[in-house]
Amino acid sequence: MRYLTAGESHGPRLTAIIEGIPAGLPLTAEDINGDLKRRQGGYGRGGRMKIESDQVFFTSGVRHGKTTGAPITMDVVNKDHQKWLDIMSAEDIEDRLKSKRKITHPRPGHADLVGGIKYRFDDLRNSLERSSARETTMRVAVGAVAKRLLAELDMEIANHVVVFGGKEIDVPEDLTVAEIKARAAQSEVSIVNQEREQEIKDYIDQIKRDGDTIGGVVETVVGGVPVGLGSYVQWDRKLDARLAQAVVSINAFKGVEFGLGFEAGYRKGSQVMDEILWSKEDGYTRRTNNLGGFEGGMTNGQPIVVRGVMKPIPTLYKPLMSVDIETHEPYKATVERSDPTALPAASVVMEAVVATVLAQEILEKFSSDNLEELKEAVAKHRDYTKNY
Ligand SMILES: Cc1cc2nc3c(=O)[nH]c(=O)nc-3n(C[C@H](O)[C@H](O)[C@H](O)COP(=O)(O)O)c2cc1C
Repeated sequence: MRYLTAGESHGPRLTAIIEGIPAGLPLTAEDINGDLKRRQGGYGRGGRMKIESDQVFFTSGVRHGKTTGAPITMDVVNKDHQKWLDIMSAEDIEDRLKSKRKITHPRPGHADLVGGIKYRFDDLRNSLERSSARETTMRVAVGAVAKRLLAELDMEIANHVVVFGGKEIDVPEDLTVAEIKARAAQSEVSIVNQEREQEIKDYIDQIKRDGDTIGGVVETVVGGVPVGLGSYVQWDRKLDARLAQAVVSINAFKGVEFGLGFEAGYRKGSQVMDEILWSKEDGYTRRTNNLGGFEGGMTNGQPIVVRGVMKPIPTLYKPLMSVDIETHEPYKATVERSDPTALPAASVVMEAVVATVLAQEILEKFSSDNLEELKEAVAKHRDYTKNY
């Protein structure tokens, strides 16, 4: 399974093409729109998200509510585009109009300046439009298709925020994936501990009043994972490494860890390794899950626990200093539009990219022209694993 996304933040529409999804997967626009709505929500979001209410429509690959095995094309219209017809026009326009929303003050922490140098632009809007996190809309759409596939294979995925702007959320122990999902869905800040909800919201309000921004740490958990996805035989086939790449590819994500993650560097081996158990009912299990479901770049059947860290949003209403690229004079950076935090939205994106990589891996390991064929292959593998 492979995919590409296309589209600009204020262009006419966003597009994704996915190839390699088996035929026969039940799929409706509603399956996707629910996640698109989640990406647009969350406490602390305003501006653009009030203008757009994203809806996907399929232009290929789905017929009568089921995938056909052909490339799936999904489009989301940018409603805001109507106000940007000249500025985002594919045809050349008068210079007078071109200068209307020209950007010459690059924002620190964004792709503006380096993109301008790399592609030799005199208007940094060319970088801004594609590097914008608006692109993550289509990654969420692709992830929703992937999640639909994983659900057919009894795999469950959930995400929640574990650190919000430096405030650690105490997570009750032994929550199931379903419980994490249900609790985070109830929360406007995507946390599982309701007692902290108001404190976090007040903090976001405070940050907004200060004209500042915050990031945090998001955790994605996946249950029902077959043993042996990924491989140790080659560096680029290690699944934890593939997931790390996907997570850090999300705008503003700066790091990733599995299970105990960086904490493992502070412990002894006896406090880190997960001892192996066996029972007739469950086959092989582990006493703990400190390694987050991975050994040797492969899934070991324990829930996958992966965390990503998001830096604070770089556009501040209290703008940072920058330099005009035409005059080289110091200037305050351009403020296009911004929020104090996008962490709850980003956690939806993280869930989507994790689901996408897992779906890709499943489709690489098991035969997959048709959904029933895939389900049979996965069930057979699960039987084999249990009786090994
Ligand atoms: C869901 C989401 C929403 C975001 N919203 C904004 C925003 O409103 N303003 C902003 O300046 N950056 C926002 N960002 C972050 C920037 O897109 C990102 O920092 C920028 O593209 C530079 O990329 P880098 O941080 O990965 O280096 C958002 C990121 C995500 C994942």
